[in-house]
Amino acid sequence: MRRIAHISDLHFGRTDPAVVAGLTEELNRDRPDLIIASGDFTMRARQVEYAEAQAFLAGLASPWIAVPGNHDISPYHLVQRFLRPFDRYKRYIASDTEPVFSDDEVGIVCINTVRRWAPERDWSQGKIHRWQIARAELRLRALPNHLFKIVVGHHPFMPPPWDEEARIVGRADLALAAFRRCGVGLTLAGHLHRHYSRFVEAADPGADRSTVDQGSARATEQRMLAVQAGSATSTRLRGNEPNAYNRIVVENGAATVTVRLWDGGGWRDAA
Ligand SMILES: [Fe+2]
Ligand SMILES: [Fe+2]
Repeated sequence: MRRIAHISDLHFGRTDPAVVAGLTEELNRDRPDLIIASGDFTMRARQVEYAEAQAFLAGLASPWIAVPGNHDISPYHLVQRFLRPFDRYKRYIASDTEPVFSDDEVGIVCINTVRRWAPERDWSQGKIHRWQIARAELRLRALPNHLFKIVVGHHPFMPPPWDEEARIVGRADLALAAFRRCGVGLTLAGHLHRHYSRFVEAADPGADRSTVDQGSARATEQRMLAVQAGSATSTRLRGNEPNAYNRIVVENGAATVTVRLWDGGGWRDAA
């Protein structure tokens, strides 16, 4: 069994200190085997924000892996943004923006979906290059077959069940098809500051999405589940959704996801 905490969109620079302290306390009491952070550590990629994110990570008792989010490259310093977009991320968070993790139970491949530029007004949207899909596929195939496989990115792989038109990561269809070929059971992402879980269609054409309880969901190698985390610590909340993170248990080739919500004084399971 592996216990994983999936946190996202911490947004240092605009956090609630009580929630940050509460999250640190909960994670250090719970001691998951691994913490996965799916991007947006900062608001504006300022050094002071990165320093806070670095201090938060240094205070965690569990090992962690991470990907950057669109807020983690500077919106102000365009030369830096174009030439060395992930310099600060690499200095304060991690030198690798696409880490791979495996033990004898789970195999995790991370994809950096952040783009420094886009041919549209909104540069915050994410995209996966074809070469990134090919590399992720190679990395997934290199993992031993018996591992439960997880892919992590910042931008969502599936839209919310209540908004099918919502923007998802560019080339999600190609990426999901590749993940399916490799037997991925779970994708994890953030960015929308809303938590939800839904099965990826075509994994099981007869799957009834309404059977996914938004408080907890179960994925298997045969049935790929796309899981989104809310914002763990930011005051930038959307849709009246409180701060949230996901508790994931991987056991016997399946993952069970439970959403943990901040109620103002502590964390509790979503209804
Ligand atoms: Fe965010
Ligand atoms: Fe984001």
